[in-house]
Amino acid sequence: LQHIRIGLLGLGTVGTGVYRMIEDYQEDLQHKTGCQISISKILVNSPNKLRSIEINPDLYTTDPNEVLQDPNIDMIVEVMGGVEEAREYITQALNSKKHVVTANKDLIALHGGELLSLAGEQNCDLFYEASVAGGIPILRGLGDGFSSDRITKMLGILNGTTNYMLSKMAQEGVDYDTCLKEAQDLGYAEADPTSDVEGLDAARKVAILGTLGYNTEFSLDEVDVQGISSIDQKDVQYGREFGYELKLLGIADKQNEEVELSVQPTFIKKSHPLANVDGVNNAVYVHGESVGETMFYGPGAGELPTATAVTSDLVTVVKNIKLGVNGKGNVAPFNVKKMKPKER
Ligand code: NDP
Ligand code: HSE
Repeated sequence: LQHIRIGLLGLGTVGTGVYRMIEDYQEDLQHKTGCQISISKILVNSPNKLRSIEINPDLYTTDPNEVLQDPNIDMIVEVMGGVEEAREYITQALNSKKHVVTANKDLIALHGGELLSLAGEQNCDLFYEASVAGGIPILRGLGDGFSSDRITKMLGILNGTTNYMLSKMAQEGVDYDTCLKEAQDLGYAEADPTSDVEGLDAARKVAILGTLGYNTEFSLDEVDVQGISSIDQKDVQYGREFGYELKLLGIADKQNEEVELSVQPTFIKKSHPLANVDGVNNAVYVHGESVGETMFYGPGAGELPTATAVTSDLVTVVKNIKLGVNGKGNVAPFNVKKMKPKER
């Protein structure tokens, strides 16, 4: 049995889920890929930290070179977050012909184009399904499932933390700070939750969706962003009295050859399917000229849902290793044409 060794960068909420899935589903994964898959090094900040799983302490390192320069490691799974270090480590990994799976939307929204080009040059896979809408396989849906169609509109609830908060405020009358603390404790929020509540996390996802859906590289500063930090429980409940739910919506809407990209709190009529997306769930509505209306729904954050997306990417990399086709199917725009972001 071919043995595929993984270097895990980060063992927080998502990394722990990935570790668990590889351990718990080892037999299924072997059956599906024909390979034995194991994690052989884990980069963390604090190796002595008390963790929710028991792991052989020999696997931990605080030295990225022990992972990135280990010739036995075939693939890197980056779930540490942040931009500059993650960018540097992924670049090093690709230059050493190691495949990469990442959940890092901050990085992909800013440097996805550059990293995908490098991956292509190195015949390496670079997958990032978990970067948008957690456990929902929306990027493959857009990149493969709708590749023949012309997408005209994408909108969705793209941030689990704020959706959890808005649902709690609406349904249980819990105040803003308590809901945010709960979302952090549940592992939904970013290390700095400002990016959740100020809409930046959703904006990164809108930039990624727009880039894939419209085959045009959009940058983060082309997204008009408004978060929920000025909203309180009274606003949410006031809307409810009139039959509306307040949701933080990410929008990538194409009209003629212009695309409007934005994130904004929006009152949605209770009868609309997006109004009923509660808790940590996300939903992405995609309209295509030929397919018509579609909607993808599921958990947008959290340990195992996010780990499902990461581990599924990992399985694809392993299958590609078996078939010798790595670097041929990265989810990326091809022959990018430049559509304009809408003038504001
Ligand atoms: P956490 O903060 O829970 O975990 C981060 C992990 O990375 C920790 O194990 C930490 O080490 C390690 N780490 C961070 N920086 C460094 C560094 N410079 N050197 C070495 N180790 C480092 O993050 P999450 O698991 O929540 O998120 C990880 C990534 O996944 C982020 O990019 C996030 O945006 C993305 N994501 C998260 C989702 C979620 O639901 N949480 C959903 C979708 C994507 P130590 O444990 O020692 O502190
Ligand atoms: N902090 C993010 C969220 C994690 O709450 O949606 C998933 O991308």
